[in-house]
Amino acid sequence: MKKMILAVSVLLAVVFPIDLKIGVWDPSEKSPFFIDEKDGPDPYKNYRSNYKRITGFEYSGLHWNQGVVVYINKHVDAYWENYKLYIEQLEEEDRSRKFNFKKYPVGTILVKENFNLGKGTQKVPISPQTATVMVKREVGYDKEGNDWEYVRFNTKGKVLLDGNSKDPAVKRSCYDCHRNVESRDYVFSTFYKNPTKAE
Ligand code: HEC
Repeated sequence: MKKMILAVSVLLAVVFPIDLKIGVWDPSEKSPFFIDEKDGPDPYKNYRSNYKRITGFEYSGLHWNQGVVVYINKHVDAYWENYKLYIEQLEEEDRSRKFNFKKYPVGTILVKENFNLGKGTQKVPISPQTATVMVKREVGYDKEGNDWEYVRFNTKGKVLLDGNSKDPAVKRSCYDCHRNVESRDYVFSTFYKNPTKAE
């Protein structure tokens, strides 16, 4: 019996450390998504340490009940302003008040890591699912969609979807939902964690 318990514990120890590590956001920790190894025009290289992590590990009801973490390469001020205004807008009773949300400059990249969560109330990330990315392209890239490109990667860094509002698959899978926050330049900016205080 002892032997069996030992065998099971060893087995669990082999299986679980990989899962538990996913919840640790030490910047030196290797991303489980491998998009930073992707050759291409977009500098995702080492995004976990080179970008700013602007959220904690958040539970996302809309994003298919996954656990999410968002990073931005620059212009964190725009995200911060829009987050603050979004909270004000939620609490504002005067419906006629206009909110001046910021637009993101060309070259802004947002990376979102999406994790499947374990069952129960603990909401522990058990496995990486996809990395979803928005890139602010040059003016004229997609006038209707404020020049955002949407990309979805699997964990191995393979591109599953890439394009803008003119691409029917991207429109259906990304744009049609993000257009709900057109006033916030298509970025939900739902969560924010002061990056200087990010643990
Ligand atoms: C059903 C609605 C919906 C769909 C479809 C959707 N998103 Fe999102 N997305 C959200 C919400 C809501 C957030 C805010 C954070 C959260 O709750 O996950 C978000 C956040 C993001 C962010 C972080 C920046 C921000 O908006 O705050 C990126 C990047 C992103 N999504 C990319 C994508 C891509 C790429 C696709 C298509 C593959 C996609 N999303 C499809 C709802 C959606």
